[in-house]
Amino acid sequence: MKVSIVGSGYVGIVTGIGFAELGHEVSFIEVDKDKVNRINSLQPPIFEKGLEKLMKKNEGRFRATTEYRVLEESEVIFICVGTPSKNDGSIDLNFIKEAAKEVGKFLEDQIVVVKSTVLPDTTENILKPILEKESGRVAFEEFGLAYNPEFLREGSAVYDFFNPDRIVIGTNDLMSKNILEELYSQFDCPKLFTNIKTAEMIKYASNAFLATKISFANEIGNICKILGIDSYEVFRGVGLDHRINPSFFRAGIGFGGSCFPKDLKALIKKAEELGINPKILKAVMNVNERQPMKLIELLKKHIPELNGKKIGVLGLSFKPDTDDVRDSRAIPIVEEILKEGGKVIAYDPKAVDNFRRIFPQITYADKAEDVLESDAVLILTEWDEFEKLNYKGKLVIDGRRVEKAKEAAVYEGVCW
Ligand code: UDX
Repeated sequence: MKVSIVGSGYVGIVTGIGFAELGHEVSFIEVDKDKVNRINSLQPPIFEKGLEKLMKKNEGRFRATTEYRVLEESEVIFICVGTPSKNDGSIDLNFIKEAAKEVGKFLEDQIVVVKSTVLPDTTENILKPILEKESGRVAFEEFGLAYNPEFLREGSAVYDFFNPDRIVIGTNDLMSKNILEELYSQFDCPKLFTNIKTAEMIKYASNAFLATKISFANEIGNICKILGIDSYEVFRGVGLDHRINPSFFRAGIGFGGSCFPKDLKALIKKAEELGINPKILKAVMNVNERQPMKLIELLKKHIPELNGKKIGVLGLSFKPDTDDVRDSRAIPIVEEILKEGGKVIAYDPKAVDNFRRIFPQITYADKAEDVLESDAVLILTEWDEFEKLNYKGKLVIDGRRVEKAKEAAVYEGVCW
C-alpha cells in the first residue's frame, strides 16, 4: 500500500519505517528540511534503538519530502505531528490543525488516519471540518477518516511497533475500516474496532491508568520507606495477583517524558471543562511532582547544607535508552540543588546535549566514573551501564533502583 506519514517525530518515523519493513511504500512529509535530509540519507531524525538498522535495510522503500503534494499518490495518510501542552496544561492543537489544513488541500478519496494523541471529539469536531473545508469533500463518504492511537514507548518503539499488545482502530466509515484492517493484517494481536471518539479516549485512559499505577507505587513506596520495608518486594507480591500484573510497578522518583505529564494535564483540563473534578488524576500529578523532592530530602538527611557541595548526578534522560529529557525528573532535582547553592556534575550516555540546553551552567562529565568523585551521587535514570560502576566508599541516593549501587558506603533508595 502507499502510505504517507505527516510528521517524523518518534511516532511518525517509527510507524513509517515499520510499514516500510512490512512491504509498504512510505512517504514522510516533514516541514523541517534538516530532518528530511537525514531521513533521505538513512539517518534517524531521533535516537531510537534499532531504527537506523531498519532504515538501512529498507532503503528505497521510503523517502522524505517537505512537499504535501506527494499525498495525492497515497492511499492512507497518517497524521503524526506533536500535540504539546500549553502553559495552562491544555493541549496545543496548532501543529495538527496546520497539518490537517495542508492535508486537506491534496485530499481526494484517501484515508486520513490521526495518530497524534488528541482528546475525544478532536478528530470529528475540529480536524474533520478543516479537512472538509480545504478539500471541498465530505468525510466518511468522499474520503475516509479514522483515529488509530499509538502505544509506542520511547526507547523500545521499534520493538513495540512489531509487537503490540493490541491495535485500536476508531472509524465511522466502512472504507477506512476495511483499508486499515488490510494495512494491519500482518499483526496477530487483538484488534479493537470502535468509533473515533472511543479510540481517542482509549489512548488517554491507558496513559492515565499507567501514570496512576506509578504514582500509586510511589505513594505506597513512601510509606514503605519510613517503615523500613522494600517496596520492590511488596510490589512483587502484589503484582502476582493476575488482576494487578507485576509490570510497570516500579516506585522511584516518578514519571517524565513527552506523554504522561502532558496527557494527564490535558485530560484534567478537559474533565474540568466538562464540569467534573478529576480528583484521582490530580492526585496522580501531585504525587509525581512531589516525588523528586523525596530524593532531595534523603540527600539532605546526609548533607543538610548543600551550599558549596559537589553533587554527582547519574542519568538525565526521563528513562533509559533515550536522549529525551522532556519532563525528566532530573530537571526539578538539578534545579533544587542549584537553588540551594550546590554544584552539579552530571553524566548521561545520550542526553547531555539536550540537558545542556536547559542547564548550561552545570558541569558535564564524559565518563560516569568522574561523577562518582563527589560529596554525594544521585541516580536519576537506570541506564544499564550504571550497574557496572564501582560505588564502594560512596554516598549514593538512588531514585531508580540500581542494584550494584547498594555496595556504597551509605546507600539510600527513595522507596526502599
Ligand atoms: C508512554 C507509554 O508507555 C506509551 O504507551 C505511550 O504511547 C507514550 O507514553 P514513554 O513516555 O516512552 O511511553 O515511557 P514509559 O516507558 O511509559 O515511561 C514513562 C515514565 O514513567 C518514565 O519516566 C519512567 O521512568 C517512569 N516509570 C515507568 C516509572 O517510574 N515506573 C514504572 O514502573 C514505569
